[in-house]
Amino acid sequence: MDNIESYHEASKHAPGRYAPGPGYLNWENQPEPFRWFHGAKVHDLPLRQSLPDPLFEAMGQVGGIASQPLTLEALSRLLMYSLGLAAWKEYEGVRWSLRCHPSSGNLHPIEGYVIAPAVPGLPPGVHHYLSRDHVLETRWIPTAPDLWHRCFPAGTFLLALSLIHWRETWKYGLRSFRYCQLNLGHASAALSYAASFLGWRVTLRTDMGDDAMIRLLGLQRPLAPEPEHPGLLLAISPAGDGADMTHENLASLVALAESGEFQGHPNSLGHLPAQPWPGVEEAARYCHKGPTPSVTMSRDQPVVPPLVPAPTRQTATELIRARRSAQRYDGKSVLSLDSFFRMLDRLLPRRDIPPWSLLPGEPLVHPVVLVHRVREMQPGVYLLARSTSAVPGLRETLDPSFLWRVPAHTPSHLPLFLLRPGDCRAEAFHISCQQDIAADGAFSLGMLANFSTGLAEGAWGYRALHWEAGILGQVLYLAAEAEGIRGTGIGCFFDDLFHQWMGLRNHGFQTVYHFTVGVAMADRRLTTLHPYGHIGNRQ
Ligand SMILES: Cc1cc2nc3c(=O)[nH]c(=O)nc-3n(C[C@H](O)[C@H](O)[C@H](O)COP(=O)(O)O)c2cc1C
Repeated sequence: MDNIESYHEASKHAPGRYAPGPGYLNWENQPEPFRWFHGAKVHDLPLRQSLPDPLFEAMGQVGGIASQPLTLEALSRLLMYSLGLAAWKEYEGVRWSLRCHPSSGNLHPIEGYVIAPAVPGLPPGVHHYLSRDHVLETRWIPTAPDLWHRCFPAGTFLLALSLIHWRETWKYGLRSFRYCQLNLGHASAALSYAASFLGWRVTLRTDMGDDAMIRLLGLQRPLAPEPEHPGLLLAISPAGDGADMTHENLASLVALAESGEFQGHPNSLGHLPAQPWPGVEEAARYCHKGPTPSVTMSRDQPVVPPLVPAPTRQTATELIRARRSAQRYDGKSVLSLDSFFRMLDRLLPRRDIPPWSLLPGEPLVHPVVLVHRVREMQPGVYLLARSTSAVPGLRETLDPSFLWRVPAHTPSHLPLFLLRPGDCRAEAFHISCQQDIAADGAFSLGMLANFSTGLAEGAWGYRALHWEAGILGQVLYLAAEAEGIRGTGIGCFFDDLFHQWMGLRNHGFQTVYHFTVGVAMADRRLTTLHPYGHIGNRQ
C-alpha cells in the first residue's frame, strides 16, 4: 500500500476473500466503549427536560424552531440526543449500552469534545463528553479567558469528534478505517439533528487541519494507551444570526490551547496493550489533512419543494432515542409509494434543514436503490442522482445498457431513474456479504461515491466521502423511524461484485456504504432499560 487508493483496494471484501482482519474476536481484550480522564474535573449535565421538545417533523420547516440560548441544559440536550446513550439492553445477565447514533459492531470509536466559552455551570475551555455518565470532563481551561472568549461569536461554540481506531480494528482489521469515517458521518448528522431541535445550525469546519485539531484537543498529551486520531470539527451556532467563526478565531483558539496544561489521564481501554493495525495507521497517514479553505456553497443548488412530513407524531427526542438497527426483516411487508418517495426525498441536499448544512459542497454520493417490495414500483435497480449535474458522469460510468427511465408517479423534482427492472433480492443478499437483511426489507441500496472529484484536492477527500455516506445513512435511519419502519447500515459488502453488477467502467465511482430499510422483527428475548436509569435522581 502506498496511497489511499491502494488502501481502498486492499480493504475490499470479495466472495471467499475478506479484507485482512483478526479472524476471531478476542473477548479477553474487548475494547472498553467509554473513555474517561482520571483526575479531570467532572461537570454533571442536567437530566431535567424543561426545554421545548418539538415534533420530529418540525425540523423540515425552515425557521419553525425558536433558537435556544447556550445554557448547560441546552448543551445537555444536544449531547444526550446525539452522542448520548439511547438504552441499555440485557440478555442472560449480560448488559450493553446503545447510543443515539449507530456504530459498526456497536463498538463506538468516536469521542466528543466541547470547545466553548463560559456557560453558566461550566468553565470556558475544552471538555470531553463521557456519554455513560452524561458528564463533561474538563481537559483544559484558558489562562486568558478574555482572549478565549473573544474567539466565539455570540452563542457559537465548537464540537470536535476524534477516533480511537483500535475499538474497530479489534473486530474489523484493515477495513476499520472506512468504518471509522462512516461513523463520523453518522455522529455529525446526529449532532446536526439534535442541534436543529434547539434552533441551532451545525457547519463542518473543513478549514482546520489535523495537526491543529490535535493541538486544540490535546490529543498528544498525555499520550493515551490507545491513541486518538483527529476526526472532524463542527461549529454550532444559533440559526440564522450569521455569526460564524472566522478562520482567524479558530487559529487563535489553537494557539491559546497550546499555551496551557491539559488535565487528566486517559483510561486504558483494554486489559492488554492495544496493537495498532498497521494498514489502518497508514491509511490515516495518507489521508492526513492539512489546513484547507472552507468549502463554498455548491452552485448546483437544487430547486426543491419543502419536505412532505411523514405521518409520525413523535417528538424529536422520542424518535431519536427510539432509533435502532433492525437485525431481521419480515420478508413480506410492502412499503407504500408515498413513504418510499418521502424517504428518498430527504436525501436531497436542502441546505437549510438538517443535516445538510454540514455539506455545503456539491453532493458526491449517489444511492443505487434496489427495490424489493414497494407498492406500484417495479422491483429493480434504480439510481437517485443527488444532483442533476452528476447524471452525465454516472451515465458515462455505469453499464451502457441501463434504461435511465423516470418511473411513473416520481415527484418531478426527484432525480430517480430506473436502470434495470427485475427481482434483485438474490443479488442484494449476495453483495451484502450474504446478509439476509439486504433482501428481506422493502429496499436496500449501495452508495456510489465520486472518487474522481472527491479525491481531486487531496487524499483527505477519501475521509469526506465516507462522512457524506454516513450522513446519508443517518438520514435514512431517522426517515425510516418517521415512517414507522426501520433501517440498518451495511458496512460488509463485496465491493467489486457490486461494481461489476453495475457495469462500472472505471474507478471514478466506488461504492462506500450500503443500507437496508423495511419492517423489522423485534428480538423479544432482550430486556430494554432506561439509558440513564443507572445515574439515580440527578436533576
Ligand atoms: C458503518 C456501519 C456499518 C454497519 N454494518 C452493519 C452490517 O454490515 N450488518 C449489520 O447487521 N449491521 C451493521 N451496522 C449496524 C450496527 O451493527 C448497529 O448500529 C449497532 O449494533 C448499534 O445498534 P443500533 O444501531 O441499534 O444503535 C452498521 C452500522 C454502521 C454505522
